[in-house]
Amino acid sequence: MKSVVIMLSVLFLCFSAATSEAASPVLPKGYTAWKKSERKVVTDKSSLFYGIHYIYADKKAQRGYLAGNKFPEGSRIVVESFTIKGNPAVDGPKNMIVLMRKDKRQTATGGWLFAGFGVDGKPSGLDPVTICFGCHQKDAAQRDFVISTKKDFK
Ligand code: HEC
Repeated sequence: MKSVVIMLSVLFLCFSAATSEAASPVLPKGYTAWKKSERKVVTDKSSLFYGIHYIYADKKAQRGYLAGNKFPEGSRIVVESFTIKGNPAVDGPKNMIVLMRKDKRQTATGGWLFAGFGVDGKPSGLDPVTICFGCHQKDAAQRDFVISTKKDFK
């Protein structure tokens, strides 16, 4: 009986950890040591990524890019975005960080956790379904919802 109670509490803890993680996701530590993309400049002011950004891919995500955008469970990709300063464009202050993590529980968003953060690393509260996934589904439904490709990591 005692072991059943323990098992149930472990299950409950796992479940509540999973749900609260989805509600307030955490930015992975040390992502700046992951594989970094080329510097990318977006001058279209209507884009969420207007500015300059760099994409970081962990080991699993690197394999996913090499496999032609087929990502294994747990893959993590982070984008750091900076404002544009001057002409020619140089990197201004950092203004946004976003994360995608392959997580099969996230069925409403293509099996990826989508999360936006402020520069302080705190969740920015952008809605993952309507804002993030809406755009990624439109542009990359055939590429596992990841818009960039291995060409971005020369
Ligand atoms: C208006 C469209 C749009 C919206 C909204 C959007 N993204 Fe993206 N996202 C893009 C584009 C375009 C790229 C590719 C950038 C590049 O190639 O350098 C991208 C790239 C990414 C990447 C790098 C992996 C990839 O797909 O290339 C992550 C991580 C990411 N976005 C997360 C998010 C999150 C989290 C949100 C919501 C907070 C979000 N995005 C909202 C268009 C969008």
